[in-house]
Amino acid sequence: MPGKDGYDLVVVANRLPVDFTVGPDGGLTWQRSPGGLVTALEPVMHGADGAWVGWSGAPDLAHEPFEADGVMLVPVTLSATEIERYYEGFSNDTLWPLYHDVIAPPAYHRQWWDAYRRVNQRFADAAAEQAAEGAVVWVHDYQLQLVPRMLRDLRPDLRIGFFDHIPFPPVELFAQLPWRRQIIDGLLGADLVGFQRNGDAANFVRSARRLTGYTTRGPVITIPDADGRPGRHVRASSFPISIDSHRFDTLARTPEVQARAKEIKADLGNPDTLMLGVDRLDYTKGIRHRIKAYGELLDDGRLDVEHATLVQVASPSRENVGAYQELREHVEVLVGRINGEYGELGHSAIHYLHHSYPPEEMAALYLAADVLLVTSLRDGMNLVAKEYIAARSDERGALVLSEFTGAADELSPGPLLVNPHDIDGMKDIIVAAATMDPKEQRRRMRRLRRKVLADDVAKWSETFLGVLTAVPPRPLSVDPR
Ligand code: G6P
Repeated sequence: MPGKDGYDLVVVANRLPVDFTVGPDGGLTWQRSPGGLVTALEPVMHGADGAWVGWSGAPDLAHEPFEADGVMLVPVTLSATEIERYYEGFSNDTLWPLYHDVIAPPAYHRQWWDAYRRVNQRFADAAAEQAAEGAVVWVHDYQLQLVPRMLRDLRPDLRIGFFDHIPFPPVELFAQLPWRRQIIDGLLGADLVGFQRNGDAANFVRSARRLTGYTTRGPVITIPDADGRPGRHVRASSFPISIDSHRFDTLARTPEVQARAKEIKADLGNPDTLMLGVDRLDYTKGIRHRIKAYGELLDDGRLDVEHATLVQVASPSRENVGAYQELREHVEVLVGRINGEYGELGHSAIHYLHHSYPPEEMAALYLAADVLLVTSLRDGMNLVAKEYIAARSDERGALVLSEFTGAADELSPGPLLVNPHDIDGMKDIIVAAATMDPKEQRRRMRRLRRKVLADDVAKWSETFLGVLTAVPPRPLSVDPR
């Protein structure tokens, strides 16, 4: 139950910041999950009187709100059917591909939409119950786009922010969605809608204007009141997300991580060039394009397995969704073919790791890697690129970065930009990265580090909440429109 008067800051996200484990006796235990959003919001949640509303990640898991590390966690229960329709279906097989340039075809199913609506209402109800009068509620990501409007209907006194962690598509693609108007209305329940890039915010404003006919002026959309007169204002702007760069920098400087980096390199036969890819196994990440380019470089003899190797960490993700199962098949066949063709005893062409690793191991991998390959076909931000930069206090290493990432908008110049669809162009850039002289690496890495260390995730959340809390609180009786 909420405290007597409720919480001053309520975060609403699809996932809770903890992982649950069901013990052999049926009892539940939890551990903090290492996700980026937790790190981002932890300091502000502790500073405020904070609650976090989210799903546990398992079916039918009903649990009373409980406190974890000083934050009240409020679990929302989802049935197995709801997970299938709301999470795997509408969120990850409709919205995810639609918002990522339809790289995979989005599926439109009315049953999935019904579940999405129902589950969004459940999250909104839980948030409304926890929030103190005039509280700030911060809703996150594409799984919960209807929550701002539902919440405003229940609680017009709240200041409501929404942050979209993934791209927002151009209206020409967004218009495919049979429920496009409802999604826009859902988001317009917020006072502030945040995006990764200016381009995403502009896409949203354009869709809102086109689909509702409301007046827009720059980043501000005006919602008419019940009499059709100008009423509430909604602001749509970019707030590029980041990482806890100082924590990562410190971690990568520890003797344990430094020693582990050397060990990794030695285990791989101390190649002259260690290339690294780190992604969730997702079709938006351009993993196949990257491996194809790498394989062709071996074909052409521009790289050889005695001097170069590629480590590809592909962490398991959304394994019940067909498109992810197909991708896994394709990637594993491709890796197998290239290793069969070019591998030698003691020298693999590609080390493919279908696992996730703790931050210590990731930091060591980043330190060991001469080149990081981020070749997404579309990516909201890409925090792996920022982690690599934060880890490289030695100012070495080269970052190959797709132009289709939010990170490219923010970090250029500094990375070597690629169009992952242009395999020949990408091959040239990979060779340029592998042969970049240390002076040039240092020049670029210095610039990148200045940016990533200055614009960390604490700054991101403070900036967003600063703009949101500047919205004056509204009395409980106002028209929620
Ligand atoms: C992206 C999304 C997040 C999501 C994460 C992991 O970063 O923006 O909302 O939590 O992927 O995906 P999952 O489906 O496992 O939550």
